[in-house]
Amino acid sequence: MSSIQATDPKHIAIIMDGNGRWARSRGRERVFGHVKGARVAKKIVEHCARKKVQALTLYAFSEENWSRPMPEVNFLMRLLARYIVRERRSLVKNNIQFRCIGQIEKIPEDIRTEIEGTIKATAENDGMVLTFALSYGGRQEVLLAVKNLVQLAQQGKVCPEDVTEEFFSGMLQTSPLPDPDLMIRTSGEWRLSNFLPWQSVYSELYFSDVLWPDFSIDDLDAAIQSFRRRDRRFGGVKSSPFQPESLHSL
Ligand code: FPP
Repeated sequence: MSSIQATDPKHIAIIMDGNGRWARSRGRERVFGHVKGARVAKKIVEHCARKKVQALTLYAFSEENWSRPMPEVNFLMRLLARYIVRERRSLVKNNIQFRCIGQIEKIPEDIRTEIEGTIKATAENDGMVLTFALSYGGRQEVLLAVKNLVQLAQQGKVCPEDVTEEFFSGMLQTSPLPDPDLMIRTSGEWRLSNFLPWQSVYSELYFSDVLWPDFSIDDLDAAIQSFRRRDRRFGGVKSSPFQPESLHSL
């Protein structure tokens, strides 16, 4: 395992895609891919914690995923619950703090109780923050923040000058996490699918052709290596001062 470097991503966000195709290509039901995908998620979580990544956010179930056939939705919910219960002890042991973002109120109550149990059990941990995006949609998250903001304004608790980027970031569910530095999507799809739209404006994007159930620790390390080679300018320039006379040659 390569050691951590100053230029390593502090916050990695992953869109774990390709479970269904992986299973179908083996003549199996789609849910078989989710089972394998959950095992891969466990491996990647533990690897990131060992590498001292500060935050890992996994897109486990999108707001749009509710439109899948009910048996698949139910299966995914049970699988997520099983992970959250089975991994509770290991998360505590590995000093990982577990959180969730998304419209958790839509998740069945018995599963929500388990989620809350794991959040509570790991609340004092001060190592990596593991966030599951569950019933999550980025636009919905932004809308919710806007609604809360309007309410605060109506109560006279905020005025337009207060609403800076930092202030607004603080109203999102990901707060107080830093924005993801590295956003990974597996399975050869090149889009972000409503995942962290406000937070990802300066994320480095990494698209892997590997289907999530085949995604390995080496694949994650390759993404981190790629991140290390990126020149992050955040809209600025690195050096070479502006030469006004060069405009004359236009
Ligand atoms: C995308 O594959 C994946 C999901 C919709 C859910 C992600 C869930 C897991 C990885 C399993 C459970 C996770 C944890 C963390 C316990 P897809 O079904 O859209 O695949 P496809 O694009 O090939 O159809």
